[in-house]
Amino acid sequence: MRKINVFDTTLRDGEQSAGVNLNFEEKLEIAKQLERLNVDIIEAGFPASSPGDFRSVKAIAETIKGCSVTGLSRSVQSDIDTTWAALKGGVEPRLHVFIATSPIHMTYKLKKTPDEVIETAVQSVRYAAKFFPHIQWSAEDACRSDLKFLVKIVEQVIDAGASVINIPDTVGYITPHEIGHIFSYLKENVRNIDRAILSTHCHDDLGMAVANSLSAIEHGAGQVECTINGIGERAGNASLEEIAVALRIRHDYYNAETRLKLNEIKRTSSLVSKLTGMVVPNNKAVVGANAFAHESGIHQDGVLKEKTTYEIITPELVGVSSNRMVLGKHSGRHAFKEKIKELGHTVNDEELSRLFNAFKDLADKKKDITEEDLFAILTEERVATSVAYYKVQQLQVNYGTNNIPTATITMTTLDGKELQEAATGSGSVEAIYNTLERMINSPVKLLDYRIQSVSGGRDALAEVYVKIRYEELETSGRGTAHDVLEASAKAYVNAINRVMNRKQKDELPEKIHLS
Ligand code: KIV
Ligand code: ZN
Repeated sequence: MRKINVFDTTLRDGEQSAGVNLNFEEKLEIAKQLERLNVDIIEAGFPASSPGDFRSVKAIAETIKGCSVTGLSRSVQSDIDTTWAALKGGVEPRLHVFIATSPIHMTYKLKKTPDEVIETAVQSVRYAAKFFPHIQWSAEDACRSDLKFLVKIVEQVIDAGASVINIPDTVGYITPHEIGHIFSYLKENVRNIDRAILSTHCHDDLGMAVANSLSAIEHGAGQVECTINGIGERAGNASLEEIAVALRIRHDYYNAETRLKLNEIKRTSSLVSKLTGMVVPNNKAVVGANAFAHESGIHQDGVLKEKTTYEIITPELVGVSSNRMVLGKHSGRHAFKEKIKELGHTVNDEELSRLFNAFKDLADKKKDITEEDLFAILTEERVATSVAYYKVQQLQVNYGTNNIPTATITMTTLDGKELQEAATGSGSVEAIYNTLERMINSPVKLLDYRIQSVSGGRDALAEVYVKIRYEELETSGRGTAHDVLEASAKAYVNAINRVMNRKQKDELPEKIHLS
């Protein structure tokens, strides 16, 4: 079977999704989970786009040992230098350098002639080859480029040192049949193609990203670029989990395999959804909540008699647990540590103590602790904002159908001050948010508020996601608690703390956008 390399761009193209801005800790946590999933390459960001991106790409490159880490770069020396500085500490530094090749992009965006574009591309690859052991070159908007021009430029960048040639469908325009033709044409006409791997990178504007990626694989792509849950620019990128599972279930047809640990898929999907705030639709293939639910009587009857009547993918294949109770009130520290290890995490003693305390708190209120609950506790611990400028100490809400909801809150600040305030609102959450806004003494606009339960049951943990605008920055925040009002307060304060951290660490100054 042919081996297909999986290039995950959740942290770069995925992070370009509208409304998503992951902080340092969150990016690192996602990268570690991608390593557990066993992707071949992690595109960790665009180091020259901002100091925040540089810092996270560098940390990811230095932390991840099980796969190659790459960073995106425009075809300019300063970008390549910055990307090298970010990646050189990694196990297998890899540059991803791009330039547009379609007539529309060359004329209107780059204002360069085709020959000038070839010259810039060749010079940048040649320059990068002085220090990078692996260079991937991308022809932005390749699928709307002239094929003869594509052949010419690809031959020259391979001669200059590129070993992966990526053919993106940047605007999600191509069809499966057409992309198959492009890959076959390049395979047949690029004279030195045996010295490079062809890669596919599809966007989902017409809903064909996965089908197009699979067609490219059928016609010679040896690498597929994709994101978890298909997040990304506009309508998103090809979804990793759908491609991976299609290759596995239909190996009879594609005769191609990846090295992914498919049973890490569900966990990776949940983590990315939680940290980005991008909800996975219930009917999403492979990872949606209904992906394995058989509703019709005829289907249920068939599955009970013989699973394969209606089930082509088993939930176990992608790591969907049936919400198993894994621990309870009486579970000890040792059992807890073992379970954390089983989930693929290593924790030091200090971390273990904090996690165990959080677990005990939860176990006092909730009878059965499921894998999802443990995962929520772990994620909260791992991605807590680096500095908590504000911390809620006490929250009290008075609510009655016939009186005005009132919240009273006590918070501490980083410099040890204790703040106390009360305010009313038309509902309990509004009363809490009005009180918190008074305490931080600056206007906060609430742009989005969502709530969901971590696992089923009345005693489930509540998870709140908010999006706010504060001090001219838009950011999200999350809070998990047993009580919905406490989770709401935590999410809001988390968002405020994230803005403060970003301001302090220059995490998100003017970011360069790609288009
Ligand atoms: O879609 C695209 O063309 C890209 C490139 C920068 C690779 O994301
Ligand atoms: Zn893209």
